[in-house]
Amino acid sequence: LTVYLVGAGPGDPDLLTVRAHRVLSVADVVVVDRLVDDRVVALARPHARIIDVGKTAYAGAAATSQEAITAMLVVLGSQGLTVVRLKGGDPFVFGRGGEELAALRDAGVPAEVVPGVTSALGVPALAGVPVTLRGVASSFLVMSGHDPDEVLAACAGHAGTSTTLVLLMAVATRRRIAEGLLAAGWEPKTSVALISRGATPQERRALTDLGHLGGALVDAPAVIVIGAVASLLEQRGAVASIPSLPTVRVDIAS
Ligand SMILES: C[S@@+](CC[C@H](N)C(=O)[O-])C[C@H]1O[C@@H](n2cnc3c(N)ncnc32)[C@H](O)[C@@H]1O
Repeated sequence: LTVYLVGAGPGDPDLLTVRAHRVLSVADVVVVDRLVDDRVVALARPHARIIDVGKTAYAGAAATSQEAITAMLVVLGSQGLTVVRLKGGDPFVFGRGGEELAALRDAGVPAEVVPGVTSALGVPALAGVPVTLRGVASSFLVMSGHDPDEVLAACAGHAGTSTTLVLLMAVATRRRIAEGLLAAGWEPKTSVALISRGATPQERRALTDLGHLGGALVDAPAVIVIGAVASLLEQRGAVASIPSLPTVRVDIAS
């Protein structure tokens, strides 16, 4: 009898871990974030109580405060119920899972983390974009776009390096971030992959470059990948919007 902080992955239930599936199928209560795919929630036991806390940054959602969610988990866990707290992607990547785990530990409620496939890595991977690639990209930085100044402070020094920048929650701030990176010396031709609603039937992919990122069309939620590897984005039958992409050198000698 435990509270499980479970990563639901980016969408497709096939991306759940075996452990996530297993605990979902025995939970008495499932506390769900809005970004969790309905197909994942449907794997819960038929008589499980589903509580949708809709914690989200998007307009129009009835969001329950983080404090209320944390208190709810402590109460439910203290009642000896098996509780699954389902979060999109991985619970510890911009998911406030760390705070929830700390509160459960403080309250003496047994808790276990079940990692998930984070959208930051899984969504680009599904679209053929490796965040590291030998000879092309040797590191990656995952950041939230909520605070563009923070992104720019961290990334300015990466101009001209082989770092891949992966941005979550950056649809609204993409213009500001693009302008700041260009001002910091990033090349306007740097490839940018935009992937909305990855791993769902509504997935959309687009390829652009840093010079055009501000005006590019993209729906939230989206993962934005900036760097040479983004040019590897596999487009489903679509033609890349930017004709002259930088050549990616793939070094196959090991
Ligand atoms: C609050 S963060 C949570 C991230 C989550 N814990 C994870 O590991 O993927 C929400 C952001 O993740 C990204 N995201 C989550 N699911 C996504 C998906 N299926 N497709 C594209 N982006 C997604 C978006 O940038 C969204 O704004």
